[in-house]
Amino acid sequence: MRVAFAGKGGAGKTTIAATAARLSARGGRPVVAIDADSNPNLVVALGAGEIGETAARPSVPYSLVSRRLDRPGFVRALDDVLLEHATAAPDGVQLVAMGAPRHAEEGCLCSAHAVVSALLAELGDRPGTLTVVDMEASPEHLSRGTARHADVLLLVAEPYYRALEAVGRLAGLARELPIGRVAVVANKVRSVEDDEAIAAYCERHDLDRVASVPWSDDVLAADRAARSLIDAAPDSDVVRSVADLITRIGAA
Ligand SMILES: Nc1ncnc2c1ncn2[C@@H]1O[C@H](COP(=O)(O)OP(=O)(O)OP(=O)(O)O)[C@@H](O)[C@H]1O
Ligand SMILES: [Mg+2]
Repeated sequence: MRVAFAGKGGAGKTTIAATAARLSARGGRPVVAIDADSNPNLVVALGAGEIGETAARPSVPYSLVSRRLDRPGFVRALDDVLLEHATAAPDGVQLVAMGAPRHAEEGCLCSAHAVVSALLAELGDRPGTLTVVDMEASPEHLSRGTARHADVLLLVAEPYYRALEAVGRLAGLARELPIGRVAVVANKVRSVEDDEAIAAYCERHDLDRVASVPWSDDVLAADRAARSLIDAAPDSDVVRSVADLITRIGAA
């Protein structure tokens, strides 16, 4: 099962994706986490390393992407690609990164997106594995179609107008792709009014709101210490809400 997280910048995609990956792996499921942000930081949120580590590590090389036309994929077996290019994160999560630009004026990210497409397509052959994709804030993963092989797209929404408008635009693009389920995850919810604002937006735009994650200082404290939330505050309300979320979408 392949679950991608999208949403406006800073909405909480990385926090929720990392927590979902760790929880599901703890439940015994094989988990591959893809850092599909060209400014990568999933490694820290997973509790797997220091800031900058995924950027410094070579990502899956584009030379491994197959040029066959029927479906994106690799020229080598997926297990070999993961063995050589994945970083081990706690609870058995395997982390692969799309890669970050190393130099100014390097050019576009076509090859990095092709790597994510290949990973997503090949991981589709492993429904028992949970693939978690932490996407960058821009709509590019959808406009390029990189996310077309996701089974579930979760749009992370903060309770303010501009974040909700961003979710609405992303949902419009996602509906043009063959993604099985598109749903909204409310995040940083501090009050009933916050929850209601997101619920009302979802109703007006015919969006399925699958979970509501509260605001918590636990997340900020974990981030300040550059630790994963699940390690720093395992009993946090946020961890509990993400556990509910993965149960609801069948990713537990
Ligand atoms: N439920 C929450 N309660 C409080 N703070 C939160 C919550 N979720 C995320 N945050 C904070 O919001 C900020 C952004 O979180 P995060 O990096 O997960 O978002 P993102 O959507 O991945 O951002 P980007 O678009 O930059 O990739 C961080 O400072 C994080 O601590
Ligand atoms: Mg992020």
